[in-house]
Amino acid sequence: MSVLVTNLGELTTNDPELGTVRDAAIVLDGDRVAWVGHAKRAPQADSRVDGQGRAGLPGWVDSHTHLVFAGDRTAEFGARMAGEPYTAGGIAVTVEATRAADDEQLRAGLRKHVAEAVAQGTTCVETKTGYGLTVEDEVRSARLAAEFADEVTYLGAHLVPSGTDPDAYVDLAAGEMLDRVAPYVQWADVFCETGAFDEAQSRRVLKAAAARGLGLRVHGNQLGPGPGVRLAVELGAASVDHCTHLAQSDVDALAGSDTVATLLPACDLSTRQPLPEARRLLDAGATIALATNCNPGSSYTSSMAYCIATAVLQMRLSVPEAVRAATLGGAQALRRTDVGVLRPGARADLHLLDAPSATHLAYRPGVPLTWAVWRSGAPARPPRG
Ligand code: NIG
Repeated sequence: MSVLVTNLGELTTNDPELGTVRDAAIVLDGDRVAWVGHAKRAPQADSRVDGQGRAGLPGWVDSHTHLVFAGDRTAEFGARMAGEPYTAGGIAVTVEATRAADDEQLRAGLRKHVAEAVAQGTTCVETKTGYGLTVEDEVRSARLAAEFADEVTYLGAHLVPSGTDPDAYVDLAAGEMLDRVAPYVQWADVFCETGAFDEAQSRRVLKAAAARGLGLRVHGNQLGPGPGVRLAVELGAASVDHCTHLAQSDVDALAGSDTVATLLPACDLSTRQPLPEARRLLDAGATIALATNCNPGSSYTSSMAYCIATAVLQMRLSVPEAVRAATLGGAQALRRTDVGVLRPGARADLHLLDAPSATHLAYRPGVPLTWAVWRSGAPARPPRG
């Protein structure tokens, strides 16, 4: 079945040749984009949706979330807003609740949070393990994540569980735990930060994962300056995520690499950290992505639109730069060429705004603008009346 979505005031494609098309139309056929161009030249399709001048863009690619969790950390958030600092140790609270939950409870959480994201225009979601931290709990987290997410990342090296010898835990995370989780995941990640894993421990887990054929990502430079960015670039990681505290050498290393700097502004606001220097990174020539980092501790939002509004209003990105980082940038962080872009052959992930242009994402911050969403060609959110 094909659908012609026509009469779009503007269509952001992220395709270098197509660019942003005015008075646009797009044909989705099955799970692929079949045609993109000016509405006047649009071919016939089995059905037709009139966009009535609205803006269209690729679905958001949320390349950093932690959705396999149970429990609630409202009290920790409240304490932070009263002046307590965010530390890696809060992760342990979610680990305890996640271990205590049964599969159906974890599935219900995944289902709810992915549906919440899709209803806001997200069509490609990465999520991670990292709240299990035993072999069985990490395997279970990866298995359940794979039922709901487009991409799954192993984050056994999220925190050393209390009462565990750090070296013994790194042995496990780079050994048996990795071997058992590997069949369910595409990526491996390490929280390389004071209070979590140091550079040598992080390198060990990442190299073991690369040797098993997994792609690499790193949580780095979140709570202070550190080795995360340097390590990610050295090992050819697809992304280094957070990048809140960067030295000039980090910016230069990113600019000279294929490693995407994934920025998580909702997390920085929620943990009272400075916002990442997106402008500096782009001006230096680095590739950036924007993602939500949806998790119960440091960033409990699934709203990519919130991240975009923050990036424009507070991080000095233009709207096209922020939209690109939340679509194509996320795809690059996941090393995918089929999402984050609208051109024939791409995955049919289309997001229509109830607004004449993408500029409204920053011009009307906090207003739910999603009007319709197709995910792999399926109407995930039918046009609103
Ligand atoms: O990306 N930084 C490490 N991991 C998560 C936080 C997880 C938590 O606090 O539960 C993050 O911010």
